[in-house]
Amino acid sequence: MNFELTEEQQMIQEMARDFAVHELKPGVIERDRDQKFPRELLNKMAEQGFLGMMVSPEYGGGGLDTVSYVLAMEELSKWDASASVIVSVQNSLVAWGLEAYGTEAQKQKYLTRLATGEFIGAFCLSEPEAGSDATQQRTTAVDMGDHYLVNGTKNWITNGGIADVYLVMAHTDKEKRHKGINCLIVERGMDGFEVGPKEDKLGIRGSDTHSLNFNDVRVPKENRIGDDGFGFKFAMSTLNGGRIGIASQALGIASGSLEVALAYAQIRKAFGTEIINHQAIQFKLADMATEVDAARLLCLRAATLKDAGQDYVEAAAMAKLYASQVAMKCSTEAIQIHGGNGYVKEYHVERFMRDAKITEIYEGTSEIQRLVIARSIIKRASRQVQLG
Ligand code: CAA
Repeated sequence: MNFELTEEQQMIQEMARDFAVHELKPGVIERDRDQKFPRELLNKMAEQGFLGMMVSPEYGGGGLDTVSYVLAMEELSKWDASASVIVSVQNSLVAWGLEAYGTEAQKQKYLTRLATGEFIGAFCLSEPEAGSDATQQRTTAVDMGDHYLVNGTKNWITNGGIADVYLVMAHTDKEKRHKGINCLIVERGMDGFEVGPKEDKLGIRGSDTHSLNFNDVRVPKENRIGDDGFGFKFAMSTLNGGRIGIASQALGIASGSLEVALAYAQIRKAFGTEIINHQAIQFKLADMATEVDAARLLCLRAATLKDAGQDYVEAAAMAKLYASQVAMKCSTEAIQIHGGNGYVKEYHVERFMRDAKITEIYEGTSEIQRLVIARSIIKRASRQVQLG
């Protein structure tokens, strides 16, 4: 087992750290307050290559491995989890899915533009009545010969109001259950496609979350990803990788909480000394550091398995389950270490706690991750019993 990062991976990590400190940290409190993510900042992220990090160079991307992606996601998430969710959805849920399963024409038309950040992507699975139970899609895509007619509503869609390309899961044949679901590429501007109201959220307030309405949207057949009925499998496979992205986001919130708390504890005085000299504070920091490290190792293991072409479904679920718990714990402890200052916006840590919560919910709740892990370990155990 090798714990050393390559020179390239270290460079990506440093670049992302620098970008987070110099470009994301300034204005993050205001973006959280105003629920805005300026296009100029998005353009800067695109210029740095964050929006197409893992896309092959042949389609204009950075061609980086998943380990580099985890490192970059951690650094960006230390200061702005709203920025990092844009990076995560763009890379893992939209670009990766298109590159893995799209046709050459789809890649040329959409992936090349997503890779440079000219296009922003959104992944549309959740519905008012299909969240964790994702097979229960009510959005329909009726087969009309050369096109599908799409009707329905999607909920809580990250990048919903700013995206150019939407990967939309919809039922073509309900009788076939999840095997009747298709994934269609919907372009902003198609007739009948409408962006609904923006969500007023607890955390990641800088990220743009909307419901979407589809009223008789004609989507050409060539915009279907994969064979007829592949949509649910597409969504599940894509989410497996997405979970590594969100796990790394949670890791960044946790390690950011630790860094900020460590810095504060060295300057804040109580009872005649800096609070870092009090064992009560030291023990909190020691627990935080240990758990952050464990979360990082889980994220890097999932990424390494993915890069090696091995099964990473269980590892990704474990990384997300654990890192999101650590994000909640570390951000809450960071507030505690800050005392009263932790409860006000200028010290950042209250935002960290609000941002942390979503990592236990989106791209599969913690309960869904446990389900995925349990199914995987039970399958393995029963195989071992069969083998005797
Ligand atoms: N990877 C690959 N395939 C998978 C899979 C996985 N992780 N999980 C299920 N599948 C496949 C199964 O193999 C099965 O295929 P076959 O019929 O060919 O065997 C098919 O999918 C159906 O699976 P199940 O029978 O296990 O279905 P289920 O209903 O019992 O459970 C579930 C499915 C795992 C609970 C799934 O619904 C799920 O993951 N739900 C959570 C949805 C989710 O993560 N939503 C997040 C929204 S997106 C988002 O948040 C993006 C954002 O904007 C940030």
